[in-house]
Amino acid sequence: CEALFLRQDLLGIKVAITAGPTREAIDPVRYISNHSSGKMGFAIAQAFADRGAEVTLISGPVNLAAPDKVNRINVVSARQMWQQSMKSAVENHIFIGCAAVADYRVAEVSEQKIKKTDDNDELTLNLIKNPDIIADVAHLTENRPFVVGFAAETQNVEQYAKDKLQRKNLDLICANDVVGGSVFGAEQNTLHLFWQNGEKVLPTDTKKALAKSLVQEIIELYRK
Ligand code: CTP
Ligand code: CA
Repeated sequence: CEALFLRQDLLGIKVAITAGPTREAIDPVRYISNHSSGKMGFAIAQAFADRGAEVTLISGPVNLAAPDKVNRINVVSARQMWQQSMKSAVENHIFIGCAAVADYRVAEVSEQKIKKTDDNDELTLNLIKNPDIIADVAHLTENRPFVVGFAAETQNVEQYAKDKLQRKNLDLICANDVVGGSVFGAEQNTLHLFWQNGEKVLPTDTKKALAKSLVQEIIELYRK
């Protein structure tokens, strides 16, 4: 059975995947980030590579070893991920945004460690919006890849996911319900896929098994 999945039927297909969190510096010793483990993105990279696709994995800081035969590019901040993604997007057939990109970064990063003061119990950080990586990729007018996004939602999953599909100009969006934070770092997940003319549920399974099913769905839609 495993041998079926390992058939090299995606030779010549080039895929770029973003994964993990990004880190936005506050000062030299502190940052803003999120709970993304990178597991789903790495599992998708592995599943594509197992079928012979050429995979570029643009990863934020995670505690995971790169899958075999994958070209891994390490980044830290959302802006670094944006740069590597825009470069990779035009060189790949398929772009998958699995990263939990920090929506905002600190407007002015302090060059020195911020010190506590006795005279003020409050500290305000000014945040500014980061670029939307996947929306910028999906709005490319030349060499635009097939674009797959993810949506982690805590409520109104279907409505928010469909809204992101339209607004970001994606070809496919994979929604997961993160009520109670159950997705982050977990081994299992459930995905609800939405595209322009259809939808499909990939029932709860390990991230590795889901990644294999998802790769099959992506390839079928990409070939249409
Ligand atoms: N994404 C991205 N760049 C960003 C923010 C998000 O590429 N600056 C991508 C994610 O990788 C994912 C998709 O957009 O594929 C949806 O991410 P999500 O955080 O759910 O969407 P947002 O538009 O940031 O909306 P919100 O966080 O407010 O729900
Ligand atoms: Ca977000």
